[in-house]
Amino acid sequence: MSDFDSGFWSIYVQGLTALSILFCAYILYANTIKKESGPVETHGNVWDEDLAEYNNPLPSWWMWLFWITIVFSVVYLAVYPGFGNNAGVFKWSSVESAPGEKDGQYYKEMRAADQKYGPIFEKYAKMDLKAVAADPEARAMGERLFLTYCAQCHGSAAQGAKGFPNLTDSDWLYGGEPEVIKTTITGGRNGVMPPFGHLGADTIKDVANYVRSLSGLANDGLRAQRGKDVFAQNCAACHGPEGKGMFALGAPNLTDKVWLYGSSEATIAETVTGGRSNRMPAFEEFLGDAKVHLLSAYVLGLSSGAK
Ligand code: HEC
Ligand code: HEC
Repeated sequence: MSDFDSGFWSIYVQGLTALSILFCAYILYANTIKKESGPVETHGNVWDEDLAEYNNPLPSWWMWLFWITIVFSVVYLAVYPGFGNNAGVFKWSSVESAPGEKDGQYYKEMRAADQKYGPIFEKYAKMDLKAVAADPEARAMGERLFLTYCAQCHGSAAQGAKGFPNLTDSDWLYGGEPEVIKTTITGGRNGVMPPFGHLGADTIKDVANYVRSLSGLANDGLRAQRGKDVFAQNCAACHGPEGKGMFALGAPNLTDKVWLYGSSEATIAETVTGGRSNRMPAFEEFLGDAKVHLLSAYVLGLSSGAK
């Protein structure tokens, strides 16, 4: 496969590559020639009063190493792709040798892996999520998939981080039923809380204190009292009249001790002032149903038994 859309660029790159290699060879050659006999001169620089450096050729073993790299580069470019759009003697390719020919190393390895693991994935894809979650082999496979595709956001132990939910507890934004977890991973989620900056900093402080009171955190009683009405008018539609959250919108339960962003008055005020928009990517197309199934079972297994 060639990445060049016209022959010119291929020739241009070949010219540059050849010139660079020749130039390296020339520099090496020029440094190999011994100066005519006579006293060896120094470079002319002196350090620490009397420390100077002779202008001798490099040792020959060192020069040979350089020559070997040049020979290597020529052989390499003859055998593997790299010299313009020359395919190389081995015709090796990472993806395809001709447009549409999916015969490169990547596809070969993918096909081999599909043949080896496909039946295993199929077996689990047909099983109930709860049963897959109870199967140690499936959980080990799920864990490897999780480390590859999910850990960068949710953490290697799925413990989460600020803005990224912990998946090991029994507190859910969207719900912890097996099928709901699978829906989350399949189609992704987009949690949106609108900004309420127009309420003004003082009112936002009131409602932040009310939110803190919901989970029994220290709060300013007077502000919390005032914030109660603000909450009923502005927030209850999504977070519920008692602040217990709503799965359908991904609005968090504000009465528990689990926080996505943080429980301090300042952080709550920041959430309310600026709103939040948080995205969990969809994995259906990228991973396919069988892998999403295994991952769902893995996540289910992480939280079952959690309080
Ligand atoms: C790019 C970062 C990112 C990646 C990668 C990612 N997630 Fe998420 N995930 C999120 C965010 C952010 C949320 C919260 C979405 C929200 O607040 O609405 C989330 C939410 C979830 C939820 C819902 C939690 C709840 O409380 O309802 C599950 C389950 C989940 N992710 C599983 C996974 C799995 C499994 C993978 C790997 C296939 C994965 N995530 C990969 C960012 C990510
Ligand atoms: C349109 C629905 C909606 C409204 C109205 C709404 N919220 Fe939210 N809220 C959300 C969603 C969704 C999230 C989660 C955002 C995310 O996934 O990142 C959220 C997150 C939060 C959080 C972060 C919780 C944590 O665990 O860190 C706080 C605090 C909060 N809301 C308070 C409020 C307050 C106070 C109001 C009223 C002034 C309010 N919300 C109004 C939907 C809403």
